[in-house]
Parts: sequence; C-alpha cells; structure tokens
Amino acid sequence: MCGIVGYIGHRNASELIIKGLKRLEYRGYDSAGIALFNESQIKVTKIKGKVSDLETKIIRKKNNSGSIGLGHTRWATHGVPSDINSHPHLSNSGDLVIIHNGIIENYAAIKEELVNRNFSFKSDTDTEVLVNLIEAVQKNGNYKLGKAVQIALNQVIGAYAIAVFDIKKPNEIVVARLGSPLAIGIGKNEFFIASDASPFIEYTNNAIYLEDEEMAIIRLHKDAIYRKIKNDSLFDPYLQELKLNIEQIEKGGYEHFMMKEIFEQPKAIEDTYRGRLNVDKGIIKMAGIEDHLDKFLNAQKITIVACGTSWHAALVAEYIFEDLARIPVEVEYASEFRYRNPIISDKDIVVAISQSGETADTLAAIKLAKGNGAFVFGICNVVGSSISRETDAGAYTHAGPEIGVASTKAFTTQITLLTLIALKLAKEKGTISNSNYKRHLVELETIPNKIEKVLRSDSVTREIAQIYKDASNFLYLGRGFNFPVALEGALKLKEISYIHAEGYPAAEMKHGPIALIDENMPIVVIATKFGHYEKIISNIQEIKSRKGKIICVVNEGDKIVKELADHIIEIPESLELLSPMLTTIPLQLLSYHIAVMLGKNVDQPRNLAKSVTVE
Ligand code: M6R
Repeated sequence: MCGIVGYIGHRNASELIIKGLKRLEYRGYDSAGIALFNESQIKVTKIKGKVSDLETKIIRKKNNSGSIGLGHTRWATHGVPSDINSHPHLSNSGDLVIIHNGIIENYAAIKEELVNRNFSFKSDTDTEVLVNLIEAVQKNGNYKLGKAVQIALNQVIGAYAIAVFDIKKPNEIVVARLGSPLAIGIGKNEFFIASDASPFIEYTNNAIYLEDEEMAIIRLHKDAIYRKIKNDSLFDPYLQELKLNIEQIEKGGYEHFMMKEIFEQPKAIEDTYRGRLNVDKGIIKMAGIEDHLDKFLNAQKITIVACGTSWHAALVAEYIFEDLARIPVEVEYASEFRYRNPIISDKDIVVAISQSGETADTLAAIKLAKGNGAFVFGICNVVGSSISRETDAGAYTHAGPEIGVASTKAFTTQITLLTLIALKLAKEKGTISNSNYKRHLVELETIPNKIEKVLRSDSVTREIAQIYKDASNFLYLGRGFNFPVALEGALKLKEISYIHAEGYPAAEMKHGPIALIDENMPIVVIATKFGHYEKIISNIQEIKSRKGKIICVVNEGDKIVKELADHIIEIPESLELLSPMLTTIPLQLLSYHIAVMLGKNVDQPRNLAKSVTVE
C-alpha cells in the first residue's frame, strides 16, 4: 500500500530516491517523505502530497545531499494524510529513522506500554510506534540495531517491509519483511532497497527478494548479512537476475500509463500464450498444469479467489471452465472467503488470481485454503511476488509491468491464461471435440490482431465520451460471458472518473435497475452476435421504451442493434467464449477518455493504490 526506497552507496541518494519514489507512486500517493544522512545528521523532509511536491520541498530547503537515504510514498492506513503522519518517522531520541509499508496490528497495546515508559508520539501512525519499540529494545539491552529490530519484530503482529537507519551506525541499513514486498538491489559497493525493482533497474540487474520473516543488515563496503527473524539463523539468499528493462516502466510517448497499457494488450496477450500455445500442433503446454494434471482432472470443484478486476476475470473463467471442461467452479471474493468457514478439502483446487501477487486478502485466502488441504494454483503477473511464492504451483501472465492503478492488460491476459488452462483440461478430459478445440486455438491466436483493430477505432469511443462525460450515473449490461465484462466496465469508469456506475446481467435489469432509466441515463450494452443476441435486443428495446441513452458494443456490420442504439462501437467477430477480450477494450477506452476529459488523475485515482497489501 506504500512504496519504500532506500540507498546506501556513493551516489546522490536524494535524486535516486525521488526518481524511485515516482516509479513506486502507483503503490500510494497521498504523502511522501525522505530522510538523508549527511554530515552526521539525519535530515527528514516530508509532505502531504505527491512525490513531486516532496521534490520541490527538498530543493527549496536545500535538503538534498547525502549518499545514504530512505524514502517513502504513502497510502494512509493509520492517521490521515498529513505532513506529520508521513514517513520517514524518527524515534524519540532522533537517532533512529524508519520507513514502513504494512500495518502493525497490535500497535495500540505497544504504544500504551511505551507511553508508560515516557515515550511520546507526534503522529497517529503505527510506524512511529514501531521505531520507538526498536529504540526501547535497544536501550533495554544495549543491542545493536540489527538485533534490536529483530527483537522488536518478534513482538509485533501485522505486516511490514521496513528499512531502519541508526545514526550511531551510519554505514548500515536494516531491512525486514513479513507480508509486504521488499527487494534489495546489489550493485558494486552500493545497495538499493525498494518495494519492487523498478527504482534500481538502471543501476543493477541483481536483486534479492526477501521472503517473509527474513531480514538483512546491509553494510557499506561489506557483504550484507541475511538472517531469519524468528530463529536467528543466517541464510544465503537467492540472487535473481532481473529481466525488467527501463522502457517497460516508462510511458513510451503515451500521456498516461493506463493508455499505454490499453494499447499494449495485443502484445501482452501474445506474451501470455507465447511458448504455451502451438496452434499447428494443436498443443497447449503448461508445466504448472501438466505437473499436477491428476489433481486438476480429479478435482471435485475449483474455487477461484481474487479481488477487483481479477475477480471479474475469475467470473469470466467460471463460464469458460464450466462450458469447456465441465468442472464446477465457484468464484469468491478473497476478502469474504477468508473470513467464512468455506467447505474446502484436499479434493479441491483453489485458483488465486492477482496481478500484483501482493493483495493481502487473496494471500490470506490462499493460506486458509492450504490449511484446509486444498491444492492452490496461482495466476500472477508480478514474477516472484508473494502469491506466486505462497501457492503450490502456478503460471505467470507475462503482461509486463502494469503501473496505472486501473487494471487493463492484467484482465485480458488473465482471461487468456485461464482460457488456455480450460482448453487444456477440456482436451485431457475429453469434454471438447477435436474440431471445437482446434477452432478455439485458432481463434485465440487471432485475438491480438482483432484488439489492434478495436484500438484503431478509438476515435469513436472518444466522441461518445465527449457526449456523456457529464453524466452522473452509468449502467453497464451484458449477458453470459460478457456479464463480467459489464461489471469490469462499470468498475473502470467509477474508479478513474468517480462517476457512479453499475454493472448488471442484462436480464436482471427488469428486477430493479430499470427504475433508474430515464433520458439522462447512459447505458452501455454489450450486444455481440454470438450468445443471447435476440435476448439482448429485447433488453435494448426495454431501455429504448424508457428513453435511456443506448451505447452498444456490437460486431462489425450489425444492422439490427444499430437501428435501436444511440451509438455503436464496432468490434470484430469472435467466438462467444473469447469475446470478453474484445468487448472489454472499448469499455476501457470509454472510461479513460471520460476521466481525461474530466481532468481526473487517470493513473493515480483518489483513495486508491495499485496493490492493496492491507485488509
Ligand atoms: O493485484 P490484484 O490483481 O490482486 O489486485 C486486485 C484489485 O485490487 C485490482 O484489480 C483493482 O480492483 C484495480 N484497481 C481495478 O482496476
């Protein structure tokens, strides 16, 4: 929920950290701060606002020198966004400084104890409690920073990725993680710390991703020491060679990351099926499935857990799996699943879907499912993420970094991957005929080109956006495979334009939402030819009779809907089962254009963050 960046080495830490924080701003952007160590002092600058506001402030205050530093970009949990609640936080003595991504759940009890020991607090944050707990431990036992951090962390409940600096040991930074990501970039006589590798990718390709309950003492001109938090044992971490490149995390000429990512979808989908789909040979190769084929074939049901857009992809998958592979599927919000008493056993498969691989509720749902004996399969985009490590097996979408808070290419690549899995299982189970199987493979391979075509007619969507940008409400309707697309279209609009929008199965309209329809209500209807076409036409007629404004996504050349609708957006034909990958594109574009026209911050909508690592 927050982004952390740290540096120890020979470069100007301030410049590097500010640049890094800008790349991590997708994780939280209500306030930002930096601590720089220079001339035996820790200089802290923090501000409610964006990283660019912080940059201006440190330049104005001339607080920008030093080659050791810690920076933070925040998504508030404890305490409103304010200068004081921003990180970094200092301990009472002013000797220790901390940055933290996560939540300390038992902070209130610890705070009470510290207050009794005459500690005082400036902020409302759990993080200030943690840094003072470390200081209290240090004072009690005269411990070095690393040991004090370790003892303190064994007393806290919650999640954290932290970096702590002690003015008395100015050549080291102590970092630790539980539940929140933490990467260490290893350079020549320098170390980088960050929530993901993007802040240091131009300096080094070598990174270590700490696992839960691991910590490191990073020392200038020396090797780092890696230690388990619980049992004090030392370990050799796995040094990973990063494949990320700088172009992937920059806007590449687009005004916003969201637009770049919408336009990247043809390539992202190809990257998802590359090496897995061989149309000529009629083969789908997926090691994660093949290695556990028996489990999949004998599963009594598949439960899919996810949040937000990933949950919508799961709903599409429910239709696809049941249709092709005839395996019963249940789709659950991870946040609900984790707190009920779900009926899950070792005969079940749980599939967890997450772009970031860090969503706290999805992670907790996985742990619950594993605890009940289920086999858990992960579908993630971010390589090495917590969910990809926590699951028994899995597959990556390979969509490339998604930085815009609104998920776009994550959705279509998740559907691509889930379709591959369903087709593979259907083939193995014999629930699909050879010809139908082949037809799906061939069609799947054409999807990127068809998306290119939809993207080329973006101007139509922009014109529609111009007409309806001032509407206060929108309805989105779809049926069958495209019902989840309606939900996704509504989510896209509300999260970036702040216009209220609801998605519904088109037939449900007359059970309530129809009461909302009047001449001011724009209604986006997915009305493609295959699957429920006649039924959708009846629904459109019902809207028309109530004078609603009808915007339809139709197949090229459609004449019937064109007659009825106020506006149409044409997309190429495809199999009904694959159509969500096409129908969703105009809906992404519509919400994007409306948000831009309304002057909203498309990539960083208010109150949101890219990865939700808290409950
Ligand atoms: O990283 P995840 O896929 O687990 O994230 C789940 C949701 O937080 C995410 O899809 C969210 O709903 C997006 N902002 C939607 O655009």
